[in-house]
Amino acid sequence: MTQPSQFTQRHLLGIQGLAPQEISALLDLSDQYVDKNRSADRKMNSLRGKTVINLFFENSTRTRTSFELAGKRLGADVINMQASASSVAKGETLIDTAMTLNAMHIDVLVVRHPDSGAVQLLSEKVNCAVINGGDGAHEHPTQALLDALTIRRRKGHLDGLMVAICGDVLHSRVARSNIHLLNTMGAQVRVVAPRTLLPAQADRLGVEVFHDMRQGLVGVDIVMMLRVQHERMRGNFIPSIREYFHFFGLDYEKLALAKPDALIMHPGPMNRGVEIDSDLADDVERSVIREQVEMGVAVRMACLDVLTANLARNKI
Ligand code: NCD
Repeated sequence: MTQPSQFTQRHLLGIQGLAPQEISALLDLSDQYVDKNRSADRKMNSLRGKTVINLFFENSTRTRTSFELAGKRLGADVINMQASASSVAKGETLIDTAMTLNAMHIDVLVVRHPDSGAVQLLSEKVNCAVINGGDGAHEHPTQALLDALTIRRRKGHLDGLMVAICGDVLHSRVARSNIHLLNTMGAQVRVVAPRTLLPAQADRLGVEVFHDMRQGLVGVDIVMMLRVQHERMRGNFIPSIREYFHFFGLDYEKLALAKPDALIMHPGPMNRGVEIDSDLADDVERSVIREQVEMGVAVRMACLDVLTANLARNKI
């Protein structure tokens, strides 16, 4: 694979602050991995002898599995650690856990943590490369990259597109990383949500805010739905699921207001019938939700590839 020279970061902690050429470099490399993954000869050994640890303090299906698959496709040794089954459950601190893993000479640590900023803190204490697999409601950079790859492959470009990000923006690291990425790459972003599910001063994020989904969807190229994150809610943020679906759930009728070729996206896991109509989610004419999952493996291969190469370069 052709290694991009534009991405020289040691860690991937977030999208905020990345330059357009850094994002493009990662997407270009990911594109090559999509093709490779579709071929019969998809097992490589470029990361042979390298160790990747997935350290997850929160549940995950897609992110953890695709990092595991990505590492294994590249020939790395991959270890999955579920915090509930580790010494964290015995009271070991995040930093002590990281230092312990660091002492084992690992190359990449992929971390998911419920607190915003925890992954950054940890990256300051270790010698390996750190990838943020989602920290609280802050960032989820590889999700934004895989979303961008999905859009770019379908639409040919990101600049000039109108993207509506809809639903529980308040609790969503996916929304934050996507807003940074899409703004950096010249797309226009709308957020569509009830007032209770928007962060204070959402307009400062460089987006147009809509509280009426029908207005927010008019003329958009991409409809990105977000899961209602019940587990992060303390108290009542929505009156009832039925009412939420009525006003903010994506169905064929609301989708008709978007461009005729608008794509539907969702990072998963989906609450069918809450934020998205079940048939629409499975409608391959409109929904690229499964493609997003496919892109996730390629993006994570690109990230592991680039970060291990940067680490080796810095050690010389
Ligand atoms: C997202 C996450 O964990 O932030 N899921 C994912 O990584 N695909 C979104 C969510 O949990 O709703």
